[in-house]
Amino acid sequence: MKYGFLGAGNLSSAIIMGLLKSGFRSEDIFVSSPHSAAILSKRLAINNVDEDRLLADCDLIVLAFLPEQLDSIVQQVGSEKFANKLIVSVLGSTSLKELTEFLPTAKIVRVLPNVNAEFNNSLTSVAFGQNLSNEDLKLTKNFLQAFGTVIELAERDFPAFSAIAGSGPAFVALFIKALQEAGIKQGIDSKESLQIALHTIKGSTENILQSGKTADQLVKKVASPGGSTADGFESLEENHFIETVNNAILATINHGRKKFR
Ligand SMILES: NC(=O)c1ccc[n+]([C@@H]2O[C@H](COP(=O)([O-])OP(=O)(O)OC[C@H]3O[C@@H](n4cnc5c(N)ncnc54)[C@H](OP(=O)(O)O)[C@@H]3O)[C@@H](O)[C@H]2O)c1
Repeated sequence: MKYGFLGAGNLSSAIIMGLLKSGFRSEDIFVSSPHSAAILSKRLAINNVDEDRLLADCDLIVLAFLPEQLDSIVQQVGSEKFANKLIVSVLGSTSLKELTEFLPTAKIVRVLPNVNAEFNNSLTSVAFGQNLSNEDLKLTKNFLQAFGTVIELAERDFPAFSAIAGSGPAFVALFIKALQEAGIKQGIDSKESLQIALHTIKGSTENILQSGKTADQLVKKVASPGGSTADGFESLEENHFIETVNNAILATINHGRKKFR
């Protein structure tokens, strides 16, 4: 099996690193792009080829450029080269319907991974096009599961999923930074403060995942009435923490709507 990536930016790099960690062979991975493919192929010892060769040789092809480039890249390459090819699109805002208009004879899967793919920890949503065989479905699932967890989702839920799971790592990183900076302000060394923030978030996530509790149940367990956590929690509520996060998710979703519809 050969896997090709049209586009060699942040997401391709994260996915390919995840694939290599899970045992995919570097000689089976191909990238193509004007500039970054050459750098990435050197860094990860994978193949850098032109798009014609990538489309001819690869069994599964990932579209990993920017959504607004779809039209020009398909024109440049020629839509006939995608005929009967298994195409996995990560183009954030581009629907199966739009992809099918550009690539009417391809077998298309729409996915939204995130950069945690690098550590085999992506949560990837997937929606399958119409004309895929059982073999195509199996192949795609094996590919996606190699760099994380896969969730089959209706396309109408992709914008919210994208804002939470795709952009979410940036929002979580900001919360990590906020905890780290609070520690630094209290006199803790920057490195130690980062470790404290990271392990607190990791431990809390594992706690909820492994216990099957809700987030509210964990809050209740830590924030006993009248205790110190309850005071901190009240301050977050007074400052509209939940609403602030919700607004950030809405702003992310609305950006996609403004730009691409
Ligand atoms: N980053 C994320 O967390 C994330 C999450 C979910 C979905 N996505 C989606 O993933 C896609 C890529 O995102 P990204 O963050 O990886 O973007 P990026 O880092 O900006 O990479 C874009 C890539 O597109 C390549 N490209 C430009 N023109 C090309 C052409 N003619 N042929 C082939 N490749 C070409 C660029 O290559 P050169 O540098 O050589 O020009 C670059 O490697 C986007 O559609 C985005 O919506 C990203």
